[in-house]
Amino acid sequence: MRIKAKDLIGMDQLDREQIGLILQTAKEMKTILKRDIKKVPTLRGKSVVTLFFEPSTRTRTSFELAAKYMSADLVNINTSVSSVVKGESLKDTGKTLEAMGVDIVVIRHSMAGAPQVLGGYLKARVINAGDGFHQHPTQALLDMMTIQERLGGFEGLKVAIVGDILHSRVARSNLFGLTTMGAEVTFCGPPTLMPPGLERPGVNVTYDMDEAVAEADVVMMLRIQLERQKAGYFPSIREYSRCYGLNKQRLALAKKDCLVLHPGPINRGVEMAGEVADSLQSCINEQVTNGVAVRMALLYLMLEQKEE
Ligand code: CP
Repeated sequence: MRIKAKDLIGMDQLDREQIGLILQTAKEMKTILKRDIKKVPTLRGKSVVTLFFEPSTRTRTSFELAAKYMSADLVNINTSVSSVVKGESLKDTGKTLEAMGVDIVVIRHSMAGAPQVLGGYLKARVINAGDGFHQHPTQALLDMMTIQERLGGFEGLKVAIVGDILHSRVARSNLFGLTTMGAEVTFCGPPTLMPPGLERPGVNVTYDMDEAVAEADVVMMLRIQLERQKAGYFPSIREYSRCYGLNKQRLALAKKDCLVLHPGPINRGVEMAGEVADSLQSCINEQVTNGVAVRMALLYLMLEQKEE
């Protein structure tokens, strides 16, 4: 079996079978990460380009390591010193890379839809590494891998996603992925940061964090972008932290071994207390490790598994 679509743009493209395949492949890839010599020849002769128009530590580094561990040739385009600054369009940048024989482009862009547009111009495959407020599918997949490893599956799990839901591509991708696999998602955040129309079977909305966390199996905290306060979405950082921050007392309302996830980077002491981030319930570092495994799996499935 292979990834059906040419490009990976969003989690809504993937059905249960496809998500299961990616997670199973990532589990196998993780065994490579535990070896002394983390190198396999799987993608020898394949070329990968990372094209990031926004800052990134985790996503870009893990894609780059994933490609290198599988022996692909990797080029990272630094968009601030590329011909993009001379006004080159996304289409022309993509076509230029394709003319050099690139097999797959991993793109992060501030504009929702940019990866889909790029994919439409290219025969090379495209992976969305985060586009505006739209989606971040590889983040959702690594979050799901972390949950599956710790809790064994998704059916009937209660997952609370807390924070700036309105602007979160991570929340949107997890919504599709988790509900496809049978989990129940509760979104929580200030009313000003909650998009309308989220509620449906398997999806709840609350503005009360204690209610969201109560009896949760997983609490996924989102980074609050500090500039949102200047834009008037909430009165102050202190107020936000008091109402929507995860501290030890709040976490005690959840199930005993409730997992704590955060896509990073964290604002310690704002959306999450340092003692929670560093606790045994925190999966933040596992998420980062699983990010490499998931991205190895996707590069493998999208580059090595030929169209039928
Ligand atoms: N979670 C995430 O996308 O992190 P980066 O911005 O560091 O890639």
